[in-house]
Amino acid sequence: MIPFNKPYLTGKETLYIEDAVKSGKISGNGKYTKLCQEYFQSRYNFKKCLLTTSCTDALEMCAILLNIAPGDEVIVPSYTFVSTALAFVRQGAKIVFADSRADHPGIDEDKIEELITAKTKVIVPVHYAGVACDMDKIMALANKYNLFVVEDAAQAIDSFYTGADGIKRALGSIGHLSAFSFHETKNIISGEGGMLCINDDRFVKRSEIIWEKGTNRAEFFRGEVNKYGWVDTGSSFLPSEIIAAFLWAQIKNLDEIQKKRKEIWERYYNLLRSAELSGIVRLPEIPDYATNNAHMFYLVCSTLGNRTDLIKKLKSEEILLVFHYLALHKSEFYIEKHDGRDLKNCDKFADCLVRLPLFFELSNNEIDKIVLNLN
Ligand SMILES: Cc1ncc(COP(=O)(O)O)c(C=O)c1O
Repeated sequence: MIPFNKPYLTGKETLYIEDAVKSGKISGNGKYTKLCQEYFQSRYNFKKCLLTTSCTDALEMCAILLNIAPGDEVIVPSYTFVSTALAFVRQGAKIVFADSRADHPGIDEDKIEELITAKTKVIVPVHYAGVACDMDKIMALANKYNLFVVEDAAQAIDSFYTGADGIKRALGSIGHLSAFSFHETKNIISGEGGMLCINDDRFVKRSEIIWEKGTNRAEFFRGEVNKYGWVDTGSSFLPSEIIAAFLWAQIKNLDEIQKKRKEIWERYYNLLRSAELSGIVRLPEIPDYATNNAHMFYLVCSTLGNRTDLIKKLKSEEILLVFHYLALHKSEFYIEKHDGRDLKNCDKFADCLVRLPLFFELSNNEIDKIVLNLN
C-alpha cells in the first residue's frame, strides 16, 4: 500500500533526545527549545517564537492574548481544521464563518469586509496547503477596522508572501500573531507540536507568562526577577525538551526536506497538467504573490461522487488518497450557531478536494504509479 503520509525521520532525532536526557533537563524551555525558537526567529524574521505542544495550543494562546471574551466575533474560514475556530470558541467568541475563494480553498479575501461588525475583533486567515492568503488585503482590512490578524500557518512553514511593496515575507510573520503545527503530517515534525509567533511588541511579554502557567518563570530563569509567581492567566503550553530535541533534528534537515518535497510536488504537477483526467477539474494553483512549500498536492474533482469513485479506485490499486476538512459551518457543534449563510465554495472543496500521497520517501516510481491510476 502507498500510504498517504509517512513521517520522515532524519536519523538524528534520538541523538538529540539522548543529549537532552543526559543533560538532566527534560522539562520545557531548555537548550533545544531555545535553539529551535532562535532558529525560526532569525530565519523567518518573527519577533518572538514560543514552541507549544500543538498548533491548537498556539491558537488558544492567541485567543487568550487577544482577551477574546463573550460578545466578540472572530472571522474564520469554514474550510479549515476545527482548532482554528475552537481556540476562540473556548474563550466565548462567536465564529463568523467565511467562504473559500472559487479558485483556492483559502478564505475569499474580497468577501471578508461584509462580515465585519462592531463586534469583530479578529480575522484568522488559514494559509491552506502552505499557499499564502492575500495578506495585503487582509492587513488593510485589519488597519481600517482596527482588528487583529492571527495567521493559522499550521501548514505554512517555509512559505512566503510578496506584497505590493515587493518585500518577501515569511508566512506567520505578517499578522499580529501566528500559529504553526509540527504534527507528524506536516513538513517538519515532532509527533505532536506547534509554535506561536508574536510579531507585535504589545504581546511579547505576556505571551511568555501565558505559556508558563500564568507565571513569570521565564523572566526568573533569565535572572530578570529574583522570584516568580502567579501574575496572569495561562496554562502549560510549552513542550518538553524531548519534543524540542526531536524538532531540532528536523530543523537541521529543513532545506533537504523542502527540496525533496518540492521535487515530488513538481513531478506530480508536470505529469498531471498534461494528462487527460476525467472527473478532475482543478490542479493546485500558486498565485504570483505566494510561494509553494510543497506541503500538499491536491486535486479538485467535479462531484462528490467522482471523488468517492476515485478514492475507491486507487485504494483497489493499493494507493491511499484522502479528502480533507468537513465544512465547519455545517458541523454538529456549530450548525445551530451559524447564521445560515450558504458557503458554496467551502462546500465544494469539502465535497470534491482530494489529497495525493506526499512524503519525503515517496519514490518516482510510486508517483508515476499514482498518476497512471488517476488517468
Ligand atoms: C489549518 C490547521 N490549523 C490547525 C491545526 C491544528 O494543528 P495541531 O494538530 O498541531 O494542533 C491543523 C491541523 O492539521 C490545521 O490543518
